[in-house]
Amino acid sequence: MTPEAQAVLERVTGLDWYHTIDLPHGVTTPGYVDHRAQVALYGLPDDMRGLRALDVATYDGFWAFEMERRGAEVTAIDLESLAQCDFPRRFRHHAVDYQTGAAFQVAHELLGSRVERKVMSVYDLSPATVGTFDVVFLSDLLLHLRDPALALENVCAVTAPAGFAIVAEPYNVDLDRFGGLPLSQFGFEQAVGWWQHSVATLKTMMWAAGFDNVEETARFRLNCRAAIPLIKVVLRGSCPIVAPGQ
Ligand SMILES: C[S@@+](CC[C@H](N)C(=O)[O-])C[C@H]1O[C@@H](n2cnc3c(N)ncnc32)[C@H](O)[C@@H]1O
Repeated sequence: MTPEAQAVLERVTGLDWYHTIDLPHGVTTPGYVDHRAQVALYGLPDDMRGLRALDVATYDGFWAFEMERRGAEVTAIDLESLAQCDFPRRFRHHAVDYQTGAAFQVAHELLGSRVERKVMSVYDLSPATVGTFDVVFLSDLLLHLRDPALALENVCAVTAPAGFAIVAEPYNVDLDRFGGLPLSQFGFEQAVGWWQHSVATLKTMMWAAGFDNVEETARFRLNCRAAIPLIKVVLRGSCPIVAPGQ
């Protein structure tokens, strides 16, 4: 191993990585989720030069860095600590004060990234707080939220009129078998899981949030170390209504 690679490895070691991220000098972070081979399934434009992009719930920043690599000017938001997640009251003792930005900052520095990370909840996203974006990216977040419908309303509000949002979430394969009914199940086995939706529910929520066009672009099993398989759907919402009532 070169001294440069050794120096990068020393920065990476000891952090709890959520994302597998390729860093300079051939070093890769030992992530819980490895999106690398599945990026094409999310339908990001190859060329994002000149676009403003928002990564909602960025964690270690994999998607923010990917959009930046494609040329976008990227803003990323996340909570300060995992302890601020929407824990059901019964499970609040599971809350751990893990700083979500710790690994992000290391990757950001090592990649020489210019992504702007803001500490902000999806519940506080609005044109007044962050402006509007050509591409809004949200992945693996709604299942952790008490109020996914409000989150999608805010995502729609910050999507520029000619822009679009990519919403990529796990769905419940069993609920999906009921003829396209928008069914959802309350509760997950994990302490921060609130809802399991059918694809029809996710599509209906995106429409209700204000996207006139909602298209499904992919379904696949997330490449991660979870004990249960996480099957995801990728939805693309466009034509956001400008103001409620329109
Ligand atoms: C399962 S990870 C998903 C990370 C990344 N989006 C991905 O697809 O790989 C969930 C992330 O959601 C963040 N999160 C949870 N509640 C949030 C909220 N209310 N607003 C913003 N981020 C939130 C967590 O801090 C964590 O970074």
